[in-house]
Amino acid sequence: MMNNTFICKDLKAELQEYLSSLPHDKLFVLTDTNTQQKCLPLLQDIPAIRNAPLITVPSGDTHKELEQLSFIWSHLSREGASRDSVLLNLGGGMITDMGGFAAAVFKRGIRTINVPTTLMASVDAAIGGKTAVNFNGLKNEIGSFHPPLAVFIDCGFLRTLDKDNILSGYAEMIKHGLISSPQTYASVLALDLNSPPDYTTLNQMVACSVAVKERIVKEDPKEKGIRKALNFGHTVGHALESLSFIKHTPLLHGHAVAAGIICELYLSHKLCAFPMPELSRTVHYIKTHYSPTLFTCNDYDTLCELMTHDKKNEGGTINFTLLAGIGDVRINQTADREKILDSLDFYRESFGI
Ligand code: GLY
Repeated sequence: MMNNTFICKDLKAELQEYLSSLPHDKLFVLTDTNTQQKCLPLLQDIPAIRNAPLITVPSGDTHKELEQLSFIWSHLSREGASRDSVLLNLGGGMITDMGGFAAAVFKRGIRTINVPTTLMASVDAAIGGKTAVNFNGLKNEIGSFHPPLAVFIDCGFLRTLDKDNILSGYAEMIKHGLISSPQTYASVLALDLNSPPDYTTLNQMVACSVAVKERIVKEDPKEKGIRKALNFGHTVGHALESLSFIKHTPLLHGHAVAAGIICELYLSHKLCAFPMPELSRTVHYIKTHYSPTLFTCNDYDTLCELMTHDKKNEGGTINFTLLAGIGDVRINQTADREKILDSLDFYRESFGI
């Protein structure tokens, strides 16, 4: 079911109304230690939530793994969850990804409601139905498509986020702007993230960003074609993120994606004639707001190796989504090693590193 995302003016009232008209036998709430403390109290006035069994896992992406899944399933079983039960995932992408997957396979599938509490989850992870856990050191290796019944977004939660986490989510909004239209992209670049965010404006922009993703997912829910547009910036971005874990200097996902966007816009310029002035405008915006992602030419072999293992690849070639212009998406593109290395050079030169 699509278009089930609510950008809330009054989260408590809207969620309460939704839950009271939703046929179900039991509601369960999944949080992590952070969101249990910072976000759950904001929803405790809702009787269905106050009375729901609470499942809390440790916070942090390193806990998005089989052991915690087993913990969630044990809890659901012990408390008598049935196929008519609903799991409400309250948290960032780690919770919506893992809770979504736990629900997808528990008794062959129970329904979920996502209440994202980070910008990253609001504009990306919580919507579109991708669910997963990490496995064997590989991110999101085990998962399924299990769309949530509904998603309730309230930018009020974002007040508890630090600037790095706002920037991390904003990288996905930059991506949504680039793959959608010049107007949407212009509004994304108009927001100065160096000033304290205006949450009303941010709420409107989140609504617009969510609409971009929902439109694409509706057309291609299982990523056979155009949903690959959402991977823009992520082929290089994921490699940089994995490299940062290998080097024990972990990057937030969106910071790696921001760097990946620059590299893949460079490839778009070289291979699909993406206009240089737009590339320069994007480099300027990202440089103004994001710290450089640090790597050297000694990392190039590892980065290329990581890109060849990207799960989006087919037939051994690295699969890129590129752009011929803003909103003009070209999926299933390839680039040779020399061009990929040029794009990494371009990033380092742009940031002077
Ligand atoms: N995060 C990319 C997607 O949902 O397809």
